[in-house]
Amino acid sequence: LDHFISVEALTNEEVLTLIKRASQLKKGILPTQIKEPLYAVNLFFENSTRTHKSFEMAEKKLGIEIIDFEPSTSSIKKGESLYDTVLTMSALGTDIAVIRDSKEAFYTELIESSSIKCAIINGGDGTGQHPSQCLLDLMTIYEEYGHFDGLKIAIVGDLKHSRVAKSNMTMLKRLGAEVFFSGPDQWIDGSFSEYGNYLAIDDLVSEVDVVMLLRVQHERHETHETVSIETYLDNYGLNETREKKMKPAAIIMHPAPVNRDVELESSLVECDRSRIVTQMSNGVYARMAILEAIIAGRNKVDKQADDIFT
Ligand code: CP
Repeated sequence: LDHFISVEALTNEEVLTLIKRASQLKKGILPTQIKEPLYAVNLFFENSTRTHKSFEMAEKKLGIEIIDFEPSTSSIKKGESLYDTVLTMSALGTDIAVIRDSKEAFYTELIESSSIKCAIINGGDGTGQHPSQCLLDLMTIYEEYGHFDGLKIAIVGDLKHSRVAKSNMTMLKRLGAEVFFSGPDQWIDGSFSEYGNYLAIDDLVSEVDVVMLLRVQHERHETHETVSIETYLDNYGLNETREKKMKPAAIIMHPAPVNRDVELESSLVECDRSRIVTQMSNGVYARMAILEAIIAGRNKVDKQADDIFT
């Protein structure tokens, strides 16, 4: 891979290769050896714990040198743009830039630039895409079921503002899963209808193999989009009563952070059928696989990685 920016830019074969590689890494198969020093910078202009720190962990496990970057003490504070920041990091010799920014498709001008030489990894672009979250989510589902074809998957909650929903519905449909949506009317996005049908949560919980909940993204809501948080769990969320109606083998997922007792009853966060902690752990291996594929694309790893990814 040259960059990792959106699920649309990946073939099904590339996605399945990345998932299988991430699973190998999780089982303890050693990561590929880097032939010469590699430098990564993690530029997070929106808050993050999981994505930022699991990329950092993945980079350390692969032996990549991390160049510290703190937005609040950088020249961003003097008004420097994202483009000029990445141009600078590239000129300094950075090989990989992992970026989260509130601007949708921020990566387009970066990958089109002939001056920016570093690989760009999208760590979340506004309400656009979250492709590395998609990969770790798919890995988690694949570990459970070993396939996607015919699986029924409900994506529930703040659909309109969710980059996770957009990446996941695209890839899940392409891989043969049947996608359903549920959530408040204010957050229905008409463009989702080509990916699956909307149903009330009570019509879905007993029918699906995966209930994938989304965080209520208060920070992105305009006044007309607000929903009562006091009644959200009862009206739209997964509570213990609904959980008891799920199929015996069905699983609960959530990209986290979870608003406990809003989209998911707090007692269910670590219940037997919850895979939320597994998703976090899988994030490290999924991101190692992404980084390996990027490194293979830059010809800086041994023959093993070339064989896996090229
Ligand atoms: N799931 C996710 O993207 O979490 P962070 O915002 O903590 O990175």
